[in-house]
Amino acid sequence: MPRIALVTGGSRGIGAAISKALKEQGCTVAATYAGNDAAAAAFTEETGIKTYKWDVANYQESAAGIAAVEADLGPIDIVVANAGITRDAPFHKMTPEQWQQVIDTNLTGVFNTVHPVWPGMRERGFGRVIVISSINGQKGQFGQANYSATKAGDLGIIRTLAQEGAAKGITANAICPGYIATEMVMAVPEKIRDKIVAQIPTGRLGEPEEVARCVAFLASDEASFINGSTLSANGAQFFA
Ligand code: CAA
Repeated sequence: MPRIALVTGGSRGIGAAISKALKEQGCTVAATYAGNDAAAAAFTEETGIKTYKWDVANYQESAAGIAAVEADLGPIDIVVANAGITRDAPFHKMTPEQWQQVIDTNLTGVFNTVHPVWPGMRERGFGRVIVISSINGQKGQFGQANYSATKAGDLGIIRTLAQEGAAKGITANAICPGYIATEMVMAVPEKIRDKIVAQIPTGRLGEPEEVARCVAFLASDEASFINGSTLSANGAQFFA
């Protein structure tokens, strides 16, 4: 029986590469998206991967969406909490709205994504929870007090879920990508981006596929003794 995988924010950027890598590994994949209908339709057309639209910041929408995925495809074995946003500003300019939007999507969104699938994983005695954190959750980043707080929070979540899920055959791990060539990173002004790339010893941005391969490995049945860990993929930019 193929494993069923859910990837939030799974139709674009790193998420799209993750969805494809899990499909290549034999999983049946459901990818969620928040708003870009055209990108989601193009993604399904290209890959055959079904997409579902909901806002991960909303618990009711997430629970209802997950119920719909499970009705279509079967119980979810692998959940990849990847959906995330940035609202960058230096702290003195950051508005309460910029703070809250990022907390709601990136941090509460992980709760909203994992909590509905957790009881089923416990009952069936198998689960893989993978949260996409960030290098900036490990080291902080000028202009990202909100984002860095959520990405550091991810590490607390997976270390707790690892302990709570271990006896039930569930693993929970985080990946900390560095700067990857996605729309999110390309939105950083070029002058600032060039300075960031200069700090990456590998001398380039990462590729989404280089993160996706990490997810596919942690999602595999063979990764059963890796639990509560943080895997960095950052071109040697930072060592946690
Ligand atoms: N370190 C130190 N000082 C910095 C700085 C830095 N990294 N960046 C800017 N500054 C300084 C500026 O030089 C400026 O100083 P002066 O006033 O003396 O000239 C001051 O801070 C204010 O800068 P700005 O006026 O440019 O502030 P701004 O409001 O226009 O922009 C910002 C600030 C939007 C945060 C901008 O600095 C920025 O985009 N930084 C990049 C943030 C970043 O790395 N985001 C990652 C997005 S990708 C992602 O998040 C994925 C992932 O997981 C890696």
